[in-house]
Amino acid sequence: MSSKRLIVALDFRNFDEMSKFVVRLDPNTCIVKVGLQLFIAEGAKVLEFLSSQGFEIFLDLKLHDIPNTVHKAVQEIAKYNVSMTTIHLQGGTEMIAAANEAKLKTKILGVSLLTSLDESDTQMLYSNAFDKQFNNLIAVANNTEVDGIVCSSKELVMLSDSPLLKVIPGIRNQNLLDDQKRVMTSKEAYENGANYIVVGRPITQSENIEQAIIEYS
Ligand code: C5P
Repeated sequence: MSSKRLIVALDFRNFDEMSKFVVRLDPNTCIVKVGLQLFIAEGAKVLEFLSSQGFEIFLDLKLHDIPNTVHKAVQEIAKYNVSMTTIHLQGGTEMIAAANEAKLKTKILGVSLLTSLDESDTQMLYSNAFDKQFNNLIAVANNTEVDGIVCSSKELVMLSDSPLLKVIPGIRNQNLLDDQKRVMTSKEAYENGANYIVVGRPITQSENIEQAIIEYS
């Protein structure tokens, strides 16, 4: 994997919107993330296009199913030039192992607790405090061959001793008054040990995309 540490989230509705935007990006300065909406809308041709343009790709589908199904899904993902992909750690050790067996060169990132969940959710779902449930999932990650984790900036500070790759969304250098609640600046995230940050709207909706890339790199 390269030294690039900025991942730009390509949260676009379709191929045309995405391809018009990516001509503004340099594959030498950022990685690109393809999520559920664009992948469901356009499928693997998005991966083929981005790969042909020289981009390193993070495919963020957050897989969570029985081990056999996840194994087969990761086998398909690994056929494309995808450097990172996501699974839910809550799928358990067998599912994570099944993903690892199929991954070839693709790194597997475990999603811990979604940033949309809070203390009341973990109490209701697991009869457990948020931090304890988070630590349980990190223990699962540490006991498997998962390559890294995706978590919010708030949890990043709990992972200072972890050797896992840390991929952090929810990054804001200016207040955009949007739906991201637990935010951190790019500088703080890198200083707190983020190996990669994921940034969407502050770059895709910027009036000066090139400048925004420099600012978040
Ligand atoms: O536009 P914004 O910077 O908020 O985009 C963040 C990206 O990171 C989105 O693609 C979003 O789905 C993703 N993400 C997130 N929080 C998570 C996991 C992924 O914001 N916990």
